[in-house]
Amino acid sequence: MNALAKPADLQAVAPAGVFVEEVKSVQHYTDRLFKFRMTRPSSFRFRSGEFVMIGLMLDGKPLYRAYSIASPAWDEELEFFSIKVPDGPLTSHLQKIQPGDAVLMKKKPTGTLVNDALIPGKRVYMFSTGTGIAPFASLIRDPDTYEKFDQVILTHTCREVAELKYGEQLVEETLSDPLIGEYAQDKLVHYTSVTREDFPRIGRITDLIEGGKLFEDLGVPPLDPAIDRGMICGSMDMLRDTKALLEKAGLNEGANNKPAEFVVERAFVG
Ligand code: A2P
Repeated sequence: MNALAKPADLQAVAPAGVFVEEVKSVQHYTDRLFKFRMTRPSSFRFRSGEFVMIGLMLDGKPLYRAYSIASPAWDEELEFFSIKVPDGPLTSHLQKIQPGDAVLMKKKPTGTLVNDALIPGKRVYMFSTGTGIAPFASLIRDPDTYEKFDQVILTHTCREVAELKYGEQLVEETLSDPLIGEYAQDKLVHYTSVTREDFPRIGRITDLIEGGKLFEDLGVPPLDPAIDRGMICGSMDMLRDTKALLEKAGLNEGANNKPAEFVVERAFVG
């Protein structure tokens, strides 16, 4: 079975209980990053910030990886932001998809980067590196986020300037969106930095937190567990180090069944 089959071809051979969806658009940002949008099954419900298993049929067998859904819960289509790993079992094929191709999706979304896993607060920080911005691309387009918080600070750190492009486009479109723009204009702050190229703001988010530059730049007080909430998504190392700084500031990690001051989820690769 060809990895890039059409939906009609896959319907017959797809595993039971799996959606077969059609790619609607693809945009490549760098040789490491791309976004795609696909049809959304009418019965598929999820909470903004959750992830789902996405796959392709490869040699007659389905292969899946976890992907954060980057579109908000109200969107008619589903959006994903993916890394391209040259030898990645899935992404080496997925990066070649074109509009009209089929993508498999398991039926059950899950995840901890959801508004329900945070107790109410004044300000929410969404700390992301690389493709870790994806769940926040969903959350900053969800009115619930703005109903829950007075300020929404999306931080995005990448190795190179070109890798910030998805987030820049996303924020621009969010601010001018007829539905969500009105909420976002007063509350959303996009804070970018780069670590391996020249850029107006250089440095890992952990260093910017630790040195206080993040708060100076934003004109806000340092992290305060009484009012500040956090969501973290990036590599394992980034999660560990950012989480340690939030805990040092007195914030506690929460979960769906035990909401608290911050939540964490790995940005998946493969
Ligand atoms: P750096 O260039 O200094 O490694 P990656 O693509 O490897 O996931 O990295 C994405 C961004 O996350 C890069 O800017 C990288 O910085 C940064 N990063 C990597 N490890 C950490 C960490 N432990 N804490 C904070 N940021 C990190």
